[in-house]
Amino acid sequence: APVFRKDYEPPRFLIPEVELDFDLRAAKTRVKSALTVTRNGDHDEPLRLAGDELRPLSVKVDGEDARWTLDGDDLVIPIEGDRAIVETEVEIAPDANSQLMGLYASGGLLCTQCESEGFRRITFHPDRPDVLSRYKVTMHADKARYPVLLANGNEVETGDEDDGRHYAVWEDPFPKPSYLFALVAGDLKPNRDHFTTMSGRKVDLAIWVREKDLPRTAHAMKALKDSMKWDEEVYGREYDLDLFNIVAVDDFNFGAMENKGLNIFNSRYILADQETATDNDFDNIAGVVAHEYFHNWSGNRVTCRDWFQLSLKEGFTVFRDQCFSQDMGSESVKRIEDVRLLRAVQFPEDNGPLAHPVRPESYIEISNFYTATVYNKGAELIRMMRTILREEKFRAGSDLYFERHDGEAATCEDFVKAMEDASGTDLSQFRRWYEQAGTPIVKANLAQADGIATLKLSQSIPDTPGQSDKQPMAIPLKVALLSEQSGNRIGEERLVMLTEAEQTETFDGVDEPVLLSINRGFSAPVRLQTDREDRELQLLAASDDDPFARYEASQELMMRALTAAVGGDPLRTEAVVEAVRKTLENEALDPAFKAEAIVVPSESMIGEQLEEIDPDKVHEARIAMRKSIADAMPELFTDLLDLEASGDDLSPDAKGRRKLRNVALAMTATHDPKTGAAKAKSHYDKADNMTDRVAALGVLSHLDAPEREAAFDHFYDRYRNDTLVLDKWFSLQAMSQREGALEAVEALSCHPDFNLKNPNRLRALMLGFASNQFVFHHASGRGYKLLADMIIAADKLNPQVAARMVPPLGRWRRFEPKRRELMKGALERIAAADGLSKDVFEQVSKSLG
Ligand code: ARG
Ligand code: ZN
Repeated sequence: APVFRKDYEPPRFLIPEVELDFDLRAAKTRVKSALTVTRNGDHDEPLRLAGDELRPLSVKVDGEDARWTLDGDDLVIPIEGDRAIVETEVEIAPDANSQLMGLYASGGLLCTQCESEGFRRITFHPDRPDVLSRYKVTMHADKARYPVLLANGNEVETGDEDDGRHYAVWEDPFPKPSYLFALVAGDLKPNRDHFTTMSGRKVDLAIWVREKDLPRTAHAMKALKDSMKWDEEVYGREYDLDLFNIVAVDDFNFGAMENKGLNIFNSRYILADQETATDNDFDNIAGVVAHEYFHNWSGNRVTCRDWFQLSLKEGFTVFRDQCFSQDMGSESVKRIEDVRLLRAVQFPEDNGPLAHPVRPESYIEISNFYTATVYNKGAELIRMMRTILREEKFRAGSDLYFERHDGEAATCEDFVKAMEDASGTDLSQFRRWYEQAGTPIVKANLAQADGIATLKLSQSIPDTPGQSDKQPMAIPLKVALLSEQSGNRIGEERLVMLTEAEQTETFDGVDEPVLLSINRGFSAPVRLQTDREDRELQLLAASDDDPFARYEASQELMMRALTAAVGGDPLRTEAVVEAVRKTLENEALDPAFKAEAIVVPSESMIGEQLEEIDPDKVHEARIAMRKSIADAMPELFTDLLDLEASGDDLSPDAKGRRKLRNVALAMTATHDPKTGAAKAKSHYDKADNMTDRVAALGVLSHLDAPEREAAFDHFYDRYRNDTLVLDKWFSLQAMSQREGALEAVEALSCHPDFNLKNPNRLRALMLGFASNQFVFHHASGRGYKLLADMIIAADKLNPQVAARMVPPLGRWRRFEPKRRELMKGALERIAAADGLSKDVFEQVSKSLG
């Protein structure tokens, strides 16, 4: 049954103190809990504690055996008076926990994941984020198997026990919700370092991994220290404990988790060296380490009142990690990457059956709402507020927010209110961004007469499930005019607030023909439609002084030609080819930017622009465009193959050179597959880093050449024992577009190294495959069958991860009739499967909707 935001009620009982005692064993762990419970408000209801697959072995109130009942999964206990100590005892089986929520085993370790509702799989508890407690945690375990025992906060006591066991006691002085509880037990080794905070306190830092992985922790450690410094400088936020621990585990449902003082990470977001990790991996690691660290304030010190407020911590924290990465590397390239991700994942979500507001109104399973909308569109909302308020007032707003709500469970409304109060800016209309789902469509047309340029703007917001007739949003658009002749900006950039359905904006003293540069820096997450001509886009692509707008102009030029070609027009390549050539020849542009700007939009991005998708036609058009670019300037691309960048150089410049060189390699293979295969193979053979190896394999993966097989076999032999690298081997093949790719993916799903239980491996194969539009949507429907089978099988083990594989099928309405039916049929087959989890049920039933 769904839960609704409007039904929120404060907790009936508070729990100021929690004491936990774990007798840790992989097969059977005994958990004793003592909760100090206080009645909240004037009522006489019993205490209700959530559980999930738990049965109480004993329940005591103030030391006496208590009467209790189970109501579904809830433990219901009558309480007399306003305060009591409630003790429960349960047994759980970490080894058998394939959901990876609660306490589970991963590669010989025991670890926890509690957000959102995993704590109730460990012990009975209200398990809601507005119940904050101080925790004292005792762990007992075998000393040889689990020499290291970690929990939140500080270690206060350790000692040996009988039978080769030992114990440790940890206390966390900061009250926290149960979703931030964590413990880890295992044979781990630390990479230790320290950080001195702005007030001069020394914080001990440790990243805990298996001994053999220690050399791969340096990059994450540096990122952690950079993040700590950045949060002090940019937000005035200082770390608050004397200890900060990070643990890497191999089996993890998502990226990482911000548990107070004990972050737990998917090992792919910690471990890296140039031999095994790509530049992308390095960047992702820094971004996720920063993200989890920043949660210490935006999430832990100020947490969420209920899960509808998830974007309060996630949107804000994504925004913070994006800005951190922008400051540490190339600002404009990071912005381009973030917008690409938003468009690739969030726009389709907003435009499909699973669309929901940044602050959802209801859910069946909250795990399904850890979405690109809550995270990435949520981050765009924060960014828009910064744009509207400007930097200084935005900072004043965040200071006020942290000061006002420190130690509390807050709402999205509290955040906006703090921004309003600190800045004196009215954000009432802006709040609609939290309420209305769907990506606004903004039309912009510029007309010129008598020295005046008039910009006509209009907005509309598409209907989404359960929402129609939407109100206009407050949309901040950064606008500038450029001289058509010189390409130089005329006058200052302006921030236009589009607040009406239709609106005009005028610019005086415009005496020469001008070009419109709009939504600069992607100031608002909207779909923009302009009547700018190809000629104008071409000029903007060559000279706009806003790097994002410049990138955008070249992308739009390509997109227009591509969608027209899919619709049956001849492919217009002239303007595109000229724009690409100009970009490549421009000495003032850095290589990373060039690489971004000349890449042809992906097939799924092209599909998103179409009324009805025929994947074969999209594929054909995209190949044709790549070919015309590659054939028009083969020497230019061949020259770029000589760009130098040493593998251990991780500077933005070196990364950019690698990126551009690898784009050039792909273009060379497009121009001439035979030479391309030979070149890619030789790049693979002489690569001194994983970025180049993966890029060369990526090029080869699409080619029918003996070099392909040789390189993939070599890669497998070399890295078969390195799980994170082997994931790349799976996903590269899953994204291949060659003839026979589908059969290869089917075969990989039965490969001895394929493992349904490991989320990284499952995602590497299946999400890689589902993003491969041309192959996944094979007219036979075999792609859909494979995915549906996999969802049904995975759901029995790990519902959260299974549910994440449903959205690719949920796009069924967008496809041509034949595929539409096949996709729908696959969804119906999943819906009919026995014992469906509520996670998959929600995604499938809404998708069929
Ligand atoms: N809070 C974590 C992060 O974004 C993610 C937790 C995801 N939980 C879930 N049930 N999907 O840093
Ligand atoms: Zn987060």
